[in-house]
Amino acid sequence: MADEAARIGIVGAGAMALAFVRGVVQSDLLSPSEIAVNNRGNEHHLAPLREMGVRVVGDKEALCAASGVIVLAVKPKDAAQALAELRPHVLPSHLVLSLMAGIPLDFIEARLVAGAHVVRAMANTSSAIRESATAAAKGNHAGEEDLQLALRLLGALGPVLVVEERSLDAVTALAGSGPAYVYLLMESMIQAGSHVGLDDDVSRQLALQTVYGAARMLMETQHHPEELRSRVTSPGGTTEAALRVLEASGFRASLVEAIARAKERSSELGRAFE
Ligand SMILES: NC(=O)c1ccc[n+]([C@@H]2O[C@H](COP(=O)([O-])OP(=O)(O)OC[C@H]3O[C@@H](n4cnc5c(N)ncnc54)[C@H](OP(=O)(O)O)[C@@H]3O)[C@@H](O)[C@H]2O)c1
Repeated sequence: MADEAARIGIVGAGAMALAFVRGVVQSDLLSPSEIAVNNRGNEHHLAPLREMGVRVVGDKEALCAASGVIVLAVKPKDAAQALAELRPHVLPSHLVLSLMAGIPLDFIEARLVAGAHVVRAMANTSSAIRESATAAAKGNHAGEEDLQLALRLLGALGPVLVVEERSLDAVTALAGSGPAYVYLLMESMIQAGSHVGLDDDVSRQLALQTVYGAARMLMETQHHPEELRSRVTSPGGTTEAALRVLEASGFRASLVEAIARAKERSSELGRAFE
């Protein structure tokens, strides 16, 4: 992909930027020298990027002039300031790819040149190991080519789905916050293993491999979880006994309610940027 148009300039050289750069470089989409980054001067964040051979650019004018794609990776609270600094330098020929959670496309478009081509993505923390569950939505002026370029770049963080922007609060609730639900499940499994007499370390290893193996089974067989669950649930057996307790204590309903609340919270937070 290494043509001039695809050179990327990242505004906000923090944890997300580092994961993105690692993914893009490991997937051979771009070499480090084709990537430029900018932050407010925090050397702690810049050092690993410099070590990889990424160019650190002190001002946004130079960053935009050297890049076809501008990636927004500042924290949501810093979005308005970063966009104000970018405004004079972003052209309608740039693709602006926002990785900022919760910042609406309208908010970004209204602060950039009229007709700016923007794609907004919602990734999760598994980006750090290129296993994010990511969804992306196209802005008002972005075309199909912009979307395809954004998808190729986002693919460096993990698989990407295309959705309408109105679905991004739900994506945030399910996949953005999702790793925490799985971590809670695993914490509970480890605690339960100890409760029924296993050493902490044995319990931890078994819980981890069980979740990893179950996820891979679903991925590789493409079966619905309900089907795999019913296959491992013999009538009168241990799994059935356990699942009865989970259903009776409202496990499924709690998760549904929790994700609905996360979606509501995501839209409440988004309204602050309207
Ligand atoms: N981390 C994740 O796994 C994850 C997952 C999904 C979405 N996201 C999204 O990714 C974005 C970045 O998150 P993060 O965890 O990478 O945050 P982070 O580590 O704090 O990095 C943010 C970076 O933005 C820089 N910055 C702030 N204002 C700036 C400005 N005006 N111009 C240039 N740089 C500026 C900061 O610079 P200084 O260091 O110099 O202060 C910092 O390096 C957020 O919007 C978040 O919602 C992150």
